[in-house]
Amino acid sequence: PQLDVRFDVAELIRRVPLFAGLPEERVSTIATLLRARLALPGETIVRRGERGDAMFFVASGAVEVLVPNLAEPVKLGTGDFFGEMALLTRQRRNADVRAMGYCQLLVLDEKDFRRLVQKDPNLRSHFQAVAEARRQQPAQP
Ligand code: CMP
Repeated sequence: PQLDVRFDVAELIRRVPLFAGLPEERVSTIATLLRARLALPGETIVRRGERGDAMFFVASGAVEVLVPNLAEPVKLGTGDFFGEMALLTRQRRNADVRAMGYCQLLVLDEKDFRRLVQKDPNLRSHFQAVAEARRQQPAQP
């Protein structure tokens, strides 16, 4: 079963544009850090106020982010990520994130996140830029 999961990850990782441009070798290293997880329709994956211990990439399906003060949820789909803010700021989750249907996720645990962004400053800057845009322009993913 372990091997099957690894295979899934290698397959799913190609759907995330952030990783698509990386050399094959980097992708397979990152694949060893990611864990595939299926979220069920309506499942709350991330809960506002909780401590963050991982971030997530959407490999298929869609999630909605329930941002406080925003009337409409923000929809994220294949290739997007969420849960990066708590890891970057070491603050608590700032929104609920809920699966809109069956949703294949790739999970990156906090310790692997820290190692990854330490080795790859470009990756860190990218996560930071997206987090910043989310903070400033709540209507944009
Ligand atoms: P985090 O705070 O760890 O957990 C909730 C996540 O929702 C957050 O990280 C972001 O990934 C995401 N999020 C918060 N606000 C927005 C927003 N305005 N637009 C898109 N995603 C958001």
